[in-house]
Amino acid sequence: MIKVLFVCLGNICRSPMAEAIFRQKVKEAGFEDQIVVDSAGTGDWHIGNPPHHGTRRILDQYKISYEGIRARQVAEDDFRDSRYIIVMDNQNMQDLKRFQPKGLGEEAPFIGKMLDFASSAELKDVPDPYYTGNFEEVYELLQDSCQGLLQFIIEREGLTARS
Ligand code: 4NP
Repeated sequence: MIKVLFVCLGNICRSPMAEAIFRQKVKEAGFEDQIVVDSAGTGDWHIGNPPHHGTRRILDQYKISYEGIRARQVAEDDFRDSRYIIVMDNQNMQDLKRFQPKGLGEEAPFIGKMLDFASSAELKDVPDPYYTGNFEEVYELLQDSCQGLLQFIIEREGLTARS
């Protein structure tokens, strides 16, 4: 299984939204037996909590399941288990390095920024709705960039959907 891990700060707003959206796209495209999706936070304040009500509300509005999603913190093993680690902003990228074990060698995951996969290069970082309150903006950005990311992974891994 190819594991894709989304990372943000609290793991209650942006990365669980990305996880839910990406999980749905993987399923719709017929790759659920090849790609597994997860998310984690660099911070530990919300461990065990469901997504923020703003994230839940927007996912409910667009009928995207977030069943079973609970906040957890990034761990060393995420670097061994994940083939892709996708962060929401530069701060996440900096903070993530603190968790990276030494000596991963060939097995090191691809680490990238979410908006590098967006169709527009206007923004580099996914704004944090925990502070901005704008969950709709984040939803639009994640819908767009998740599409680009899935295409990137399909091509890089040479995947074909089994129907
Ligand atoms: P997230 O947003 O990183 O998108 O989940 C945040 C959630 C909680 C906090 C910060 C950002 N916090 O400081 O508790």
